[in-house]
Amino acid sequence: MNRDIIYFDNAATSWPKPPETTAAMQNYLQNIGGSPGRSGHRLSVEAARIVYDTREKLAQLFNVADPLRIVLTRNATEGLNIAVFGFLKPGDHVITSGMEHNSVMRPLRAMEARGVAITVVPCAIDGLIDPEDIVKAIKKNTKAIFITNASNVTGTVMPVSDIGRITREHGLVLCVDAAQTAGCYPIDVAEMNVDLLAFTGHKALFGPSGTGGLYIREGLEKSIEPICVGGTGSRSEVEEQPDFMPDRFEAGTPNTVGIAGLKAGVEFVLSKGVAQIKNREEKLVKLFIEGVSDLPGIILYGQKSAEPRTPVVSFNIAGMDPAAAALELDEQFGIMSRSGLHCAPAAHKTIGTYPMGTVRFSFSCFNTEEQIISSIEALREISQKRKNNF
Ligand code: ALA
Repeated sequence: MNRDIIYFDNAATSWPKPPETTAAMQNYLQNIGGSPGRSGHRLSVEAARIVYDTREKLAQLFNVADPLRIVLTRNATEGLNIAVFGFLKPGDHVITSGMEHNSVMRPLRAMEARGVAITVVPCAIDGLIDPEDIVKAIKKNTKAIFITNASNVTGTVMPVSDIGRITREHGLVLCVDAAQTAGCYPIDVAEMNVDLLAFTGHKALFGPSGTGGLYIREGLEKSIEPICVGGTGSRSEVEEQPDFMPDRFEAGTPNTVGIAGLKAGVEFVLSKGVAQIKNREEKLVKLFIEGVSDLPGIILYGQKSAEPRTPVVSFNIAGMDPAAAALELDEQFGIMSRSGLHCAPAAHKTIGTYPMGTVRFSFSCFNTEEQIISSIEALREISQKRKNNF
C-alpha cells in the first residue's frame, strides 16, 4: 500500500481491502479453480462450497433465514435491474425518493417509457424523506417503493423501518438499495420488512468489484421475471429456466474468484461487527465535521450530525469548482476524493448543488484520525489560498 495516499473514496469502492480478501482470491485461483455447481469433481464441489458459504455469511449479515434467498449478481445495479425490469409491468405505479442514485432512477425511467408511472417524493435539503409524504403518494395501482438505504452524496440514512411499516400496511413491495450501507450500517430485512435488498460487494463488504447480490423475500420470486437466462448447472434436461431460487436469476458461470473474495470480505465485517465499524466511522465523520465547520469558505451539505449516517460527507469550497478542488487535494495532498454529481443528479437537485456537484469524502474503518486531521489541514490551506486570491 502506498503510505502517502489518503484514500477517501470508499463510497465509490473501498480500498484498501483486508488482506484476507486478496488471499482468498489467490487461493481460489491457485488451488481450487473449478466451476461451482457444474461438474462433480472435488474442485467443482469445493468451488460450490465457497459460493454457498458466501450466501450463508450474507444471510447472517442481513438476518435472512434461508441463504438461498440471496441471488449473487455483478453489483447492486444488476440486482436493481432484476427488481425493476423483472417485477414492474406497464400500468403499475411506483414511488421513489428525490435522493436516488441512477442505479435506481435509470431503470425506473426506462420502465416509465414502457408505461410504468413514477412518483418521486421530494426530500428535505438535508436529504431526509418524510414517510408521511410517501403515504400521500400511494395510489390504487401503486405496486412498490424503491428507496436508497443511505445517500451516496450526503450519507443521509433513510427511515427504512418506518417505510417498511407503510409498505406492510398497504400491501406494497419495498425494494431497498443498500449499496452504501451493506457492511457499515445494520440491516435486518425481517425487522425492516424489506422485500428486495440490492447490495454491492466492493464497497463496505470489502469484496472485489464485480460482486453483489439481491435478496428476494420468500414467494416473491414467482412475480419476478429473470432478465438473464441460460445455463445454471441444475435441471440440465429442460430448456426452460429453473423456477427455484437462486438459479432462476443466476444464469451462466459465476464470478467465483470474486465471490471467494466477497466471502472473505463479509467474514471480515462479521468478525469486526457492523456496530463497531459504524461507531469507528461515526467518530471519523464527527472529527471531520467539527474540524471543517469553522473553516472559512467550506460549505457542508446534508445533515450536520455524524449520526445516523454513513461515513460520507459532501462539501464545497466557496468559489471553487469541485473538480478543481478534488484535483488539488490529489496532486498537492495525496487525498483521493470524488467530485461532481456522483451518478445521483436527483440528490444534487435536492441539496441545491446541481449541476456543479460537490467534493465528496467517504471513509472506511481503515481510515485513521491522523488522516482526517491532515485532510482538515489541507482544506484549511486550500480555502485560505482561495480567499487570499480574491
Ligand atoms: N455509486 C458510487 C459512488 O457513489 C459509484 O461513487
